[in-house]
Amino acid sequence: MPPRKIIIDTDPGQDDAVAILLALASPEDIEVLGITCVAGNVPLDLTSKNARIVCELAGKPQVRVFAGCDRPLGRDLVTAEHVHGKTGLDGPDLPDPGMPLQDGHAVEFIIDTLRAEPAGSVTLCPLGPLTNIATAFEKAPDIVAKVQEIVLMGGGYFEGGNITPTAEFNIYVDPQAADIVFRSGVPLVVMPLDVTHKALVTKRRNDAFRALNTPAGIAVAQMTDFFERFDKEKYGSEGAPLHDPCVTAYLIKPELFTGRHINVEIEVTSELTMGMTVADWWRVTDRAPNAMFMGGIDADGFFALLTERLARL
Ligand code: RIB
Ligand code: CA
Repeated sequence: MPPRKIIIDTDPGQDDAVAILLALASPEDIEVLGITCVAGNVPLDLTSKNARIVCELAGKPQVRVFAGCDRPLGRDLVTAEHVHGKTGLDGPDLPDPGMPLQDGHAVEFIIDTLRAEPAGSVTLCPLGPLTNIATAFEKAPDIVAKVQEIVLMGGGYFEGGNITPTAEFNIYVDPQAADIVFRSGVPLVVMPLDVTHKALVTKRRNDAFRALNTPAGIAVAQMTDFFERFDKEKYGSEGAPLHDPCVTAYLIKPELFTGRHINVEIEVTSELTMGMTVADWWRVTDRAPNAMFMGGIDADGFFALLTERLARL
């Protein structure tokens, strides 16, 4: 089986960083055609810098990294320095990137790549707000039918929200973009808080990262040491939830996850519930299913895979 061709769309963010490292450590499973950066956890200048820092940490400076949209489609940008720190990658002390950003806008790269590759051969993996993806779909509707699948981190149902009582951060930052993507008809696999809050970096798991005694293993341990404090304080959880690496792990071992193919729509009208993923988990409506909405994870299997692959870097 040839490796799956993907574009990672991301707003690093420590958990994005771990997702990118897992992808770059798994060439037999994943071919990263490029990384497109979006404003989210921190502003675009930092997300596009952090993505390159992570590629160099993985020893892959040849990966093409593009800067994309610096604000949501129709709302002011909301960032998450309170979770990820001022740099967006607080924790380890990593050198500034030597590799350049690619010329050209991330949205153009997404459009050009989907037009150039065979239909159904490229998977989009958004790990942040969906602004770049939605902009590409609006600008070039012909590419929508060419996408193999979108595997994204975002939303929540049983878990509610993490930035408002009802909305998860990636969807909340750009609900209009999320609405475009969820209505696009592209096959969706969604990793919501319902599953990512079960992928917790306990002390034992973080010690295993550190025990790799490699720059990548130590950096990941330092990243999660930093960004766990927000969730531990808020939820009393045992460690940092590794949200975005659930996307990459799904591409490698989908059997780690369980969920339901249901209808999921985005609240874009009420400010009270703006950005809520209205998931028809109990199928009480006649709205057509449009997403594989995950709820379960083999957490030990997930961390075994992640640790084994990080050891390769
Ligand atoms: O709500 C968690 C999501 O928001 C993750 O992707 C995290 O990196 C932030 O982007
Ligand atoms: Ca992210």
